[in-house]
Amino acid sequence: MRILGIETSCDETSAAVVEETGDVATPWAIRSNVIASQVPIHREWGGVVPELASRQHIRDICGVVERALAAAETTWRDLGAIAVTQGPGLVGSLLVGVSFAKAAAAASGLPLVAVHHLAGHIESLVLHNGELPLPSVVLVVSGGHTSLYLVERPGSYRTLSRTRDDAAGEAYDKVAKLLGLGYPGGPAIDRLAAHGNDRAIALPTTRLTHADRNAPELKGDLDFSFSGLKTAVLRHVRAREGGVSDQEIADIAASFQRVVVSALIDRLFVAARRHQARSVGIAGGVSANSRLRAELMDRGERREMPAFLPSLSLSTDNAAMIAAAGLRKFRAGVTASMDLNADAALTLG
Ligand code: KG4
Ligand code: ZN
Repeated sequence: MRILGIETSCDETSAAVVEETGDVATPWAIRSNVIASQVPIHREWGGVVPELASRQHIRDICGVVERALAAAETTWRDLGAIAVTQGPGLVGSLLVGVSFAKAAAAASGLPLVAVHHLAGHIESLVLHNGELPLPSVVLVVSGGHTSLYLVERPGSYRTLSRTRDDAAGEAYDKVAKLLGLGYPGGPAIDRLAAHGNDRAIALPTTRLTHADRNAPELKGDLDFSFSGLKTAVLRHVRAREGGVSDQEIADIAASFQRVVVSALIDRLFVAARRHQARSVGIAGGVSANSRLRAELMDRGERREMPAFLPSLSLSTDNAAMIAAAGLRKFRAGVTASMDLNADAALTLG
């Protein structure tokens, strides 16, 4: 069976066709994965402008779906279902994908599957690596989220911890902005950090010891916090009255990146030990980060814990991961009805 996936939660319009292989270990194959990025539009404003994003999704969605079907040599008749990101994300952007998917399902008579965006990111690990040894602890780290999930069975997710304030990707974007590096900030800091001294600047690491009042069911000691780090970078830059040189910017980027990456990796491995995980994974836009990728593999080897990453092209937002998560849900017998609505704050686990 083939499924069409549609993703419009933020600033990428994407459509993909994913096919079942019949193989239990590597269940899916990507036939196409078309992404129309809006980065050049938002770069001018230093970040994503929601109203511009939803308008651009409307312009792009039909062409992107047509290109995904053509590249996959697939017609509507060859499909078995349509999967779409229901949330979380920007509501105006989500609505474009959800409305398109509902219209396409009504016109074609195909079943509709609603997918959680972060379940999609987690599925990018399986798309690239095959099924993970379970239980697995997965860190989802993107522009909007930084959360640890325990995957005990395929398709089931339990939240172990999350960020109390900024997401890691958001911290990258904000620090890049204050260093004058433009949008999106993650790749820019990643590139510059390679030329900097990662011990040049003393930046704080935040450790949380108490449960969050907003989530008393979680222990809280594995929660993340990045806003103090961002403020420390801001103070450092403001204190340099003569401005910062290119070398100092590279040093700040490297020091910032060291602190973020170790906060992420440390908590991931503590959670893995606590839950007797048989594997760990990192997914979401920040999983494209070179230092995070290298440290994950290094720590995994030292701990003899199988560690997984998506390919670079599956790290950032794409519809192939949504199609794969949709297929898993469809095979578990879950479909959506025609009153499906976008949900900007949809939760997982
Ligand atoms: O998953 P994603 O494409 O969209 C969301 O769901 O948010 O993640 C985008 C985030 C942005 O904050 C971007 O700066 C960050 O991922 N990012 C990176 C890198 N590439 C993208 N952060 C650090 N290093 C990178 N190489
Ligand atoms: Zn994402």
